[in-house]
Amino acid sequence: MPNSFPEPVRLGVVGAGRIAQVAHLPAIMHASSVDLIGVYDPSAFLRDGVARLYESTSFPSLNALLADPRIEGVVIAAPDRVHASATLECLRAGKHVLVEKPIATSVADAGTVVNAMRDTGLVVQVGAMKRHDPGVRFAARATRERIGRIISATFWYRVMGSLRPSTEATYFPRMLVDPAVRSTENAHRANRETYLLATHGAHIFDTLRNFCGTPSSVMARHAQVNLDHVWHGMATLDQSGLAHFEIVVDAHAEWSEGLNIFGEHGSVTVRTPFPVTLQASYVEVFDEATGIAERPVFGDTNPYKLQLDAFAHSVRTGAPTAPDAVDGLEAVRLIEATKLSTDAGGSWIKMQ
Ligand SMILES: NC(=O)c1ccc[n+]([C@@H]2O[C@H](COP(=O)([O-])OP(=O)(O)OC[C@H]3O[C@@H](n4cnc5c(N)ncnc54)[C@H](O)[C@@H]3O)[C@@H](O)[C@H]2O)c1
Repeated sequence: MPNSFPEPVRLGVVGAGRIAQVAHLPAIMHASSVDLIGVYDPSAFLRDGVARLYESTSFPSLNALLADPRIEGVVIAAPDRVHASATLECLRAGKHVLVEKPIATSVADAGTVVNAMRDTGLVVQVGAMKRHDPGVRFAARATRERIGRIISATFWYRVMGSLRPSTEATYFPRMLVDPAVRSTENAHRANRETYLLATHGAHIFDTLRNFCGTPSSVMARHAQVNLDHVWHGMATLDQSGLAHFEIVVDAHAEWSEGLNIFGEHGSVTVRTPFPVTLQASYVEVFDEATGIAERPVFGDTNPYKLQLDAFAHSVRTGAPTAPDAVDGLEAVRLIEATKLSTDAGGSWIKMQ
């Protein structure tokens, strides 16, 4: 696979906030498949500071970044509400796009991006980077190829509360913070039920589809206890059994994310660590015929770097990438279906 490119893909980064500084920019420095040309953020403090730190160009506008002929691809690490419009502008300017999840804030906007991806033939990859965690890659392949049809699948995504700040302080690099940006962005996240379902649903629903395909139908219930939110849902799987999903924010516990899948001939277990630890998921694949459980070990594990390698590979070779805009659209469909179902008290929503 990637990593041995004669010519790295030259990148611009749009949005220089938390995830850009914590994950994308350090990953770009690690990856030999890409080079950083420059950065745009509406905050002059952030774009100038980050550009200086990474010895790159500070662009005063998205248009200025897109007008730079050196730039071939754009990493969009801006807020959710900007994803679809910024992706469309990049595609119009002939640039490939790696856009953070969720690809859009509505199915309609995500559909527009899918059409633009198809019309331009450019790469649109979504930043659901867990697909590039080598443990997840191994487990998804084992699920498709080794355990037969799925009987039962369970997915969970429990975001730790009070342990999060100290864990982040341990792993995060020193960050540039613009307090005006923080307060604007916090205001946009004021509807926590909508925001939390979209931002965490984008991950768990992409994982669910990666392992089980698009469900035939879904239902879910939502509850709130104090400031904490929980969603439990069920999905009927095409040609096979049932899946359950659970999102908890905050869980008063350690980070807890993973899945269990029981198939006709074996089972797959995945435990995914807090993402910025950059560790691979723990994986166990049990094969009923041999009675042996396999627990692989991985070396190159940074999912943010590996997703850049996959992006660069697709840009250079034209090979399909995943998750692409269609996968992004399907994740947003599941987010909207979950909201529709919870608003109706748990009714079933058809997906296919
Ligand atoms: N994949 C992951 O692990 C992961 C983790 C966290 C966040 N995210 C996603 O990354 C995105 C950014 O999240 P964050 O936590 O870094 O937020 P953030 O608020 O820290 O950073 C967003 C940055 O975008 C800038 N911005 C605002 N409007 C813009 C525009 N029109 N054009 C360009 N930049 C603009 C802001 O000034 C800010 O600096 C979100 O979509 C979020 O869902 C992904």
